[in-house]
Amino acid sequence: MAPRLAVASGVNHIDTSDFYGPHVTNQIIREALHPYRDDLVIVTKVGARRGPDGSWIPAFSRHELTEAVHDNLRNLGLDVLDVVNLRIMFDVHGPAEGSIEAPLTVLADLQRQGLVRHVGLSNATSRQVAEGRGITDIVCVQNQYNLAHRADDPLIDALAREGTAYVPFFPLGGFTPLQSSTLSKVTERLSATPMQVALAWLLHRAPNILLIPGTSSLGHLRENLAAASLVLPDEAIEELNRMADIAA
Ligand SMILES: NC(=O)c1ccc[n+]([C@@H]2O[C@H](COP(=O)([O-])OP(=O)(O)OC[C@H]3O[C@@H](n4cnc5c(N)ncnc54)[C@H](OP(=O)(O)O)[C@@H]3O)[C@@H](O)[C@H]2O)c1
Repeated sequence: MAPRLAVASGVNHIDTSDFYGPHVTNQIIREALHPYRDDLVIVTKVGARRGPDGSWIPAFSRHELTEAVHDNLRNLGLDVLDVVNLRIMFDVHGPAEGSIEAPLTVLADLQRQGLVRHVGLSNATSRQVAEGRGITDIVCVQNQYNLAHRADDPLIDALAREGTAYVPFFPLGGFTPLQSSTLSKVTERLSATPMQVALAWLLHRAPNILLIPGTSSLGHLRENLAAASLVLPDEAIEELNRMADIAA
């Protein structure tokens, strides 16, 4: 089973949410991995719920955020959550400005109660990261970023300088996996697959990047794990860097 193989292979960071399923993803993680290894960090997110049609609905009230934290605790079988990202929902598809003071204050209260160890932000702008830091420590930012979607370049560099983790979601392109002639051309010259090159490029991009590629395949999981030891030559990195200009 994928979670067991991942952890046995050295993965110590799992990204989830109780609103995936809902509940099912956390239940699978619990069934596969509980009791958890001491060094395993499970990162979850709150701030949204699913509509009956599968849509994503903001869930930012004190009641909804508190319930979401308790749902995660119950379904993961934990007394305290390692990291909880506030998934910002002003625009479901990408970062958009708006104050996060009210929902983040609720999360900080839950942290003070001992239910949450660390807090992060997801789908956040630089301004929201700065606002968040005035309320509690922000240990990570999880935004959409990959070879072809690089709007967060300045944010990544700023977070790297400040020692805050950046966790790109959709690192392989998500529902429409990355495809590009540049990526194929670079890959042909290396003994690797395009997805391994895409992950190795992310790891090379900045020291604060942590990877959470998703897969339903054990073969892809093994392939993605091997990307951690793939060294990209400088000219390959330069070509891949230029992909952003083409995508833009
Ligand atoms: N914070 C947010 O708002 C947010 C939003 C979206 C996602 N996320 C998080 O981001 C993480 C990754 O999301 P994701 O899984 O949707 O996107 P992803 O990692 O970019 O892409 C997954 C897709 O790539 C395919 N894939 C994976 N490894 C492959 C390989 N070696 N070769 C070929 N295809 C491969 C998968 O298919 P197979 O199953 O066939 O391998 C799947 O279709 C998750 O932890 C998710 O929770 C967060």
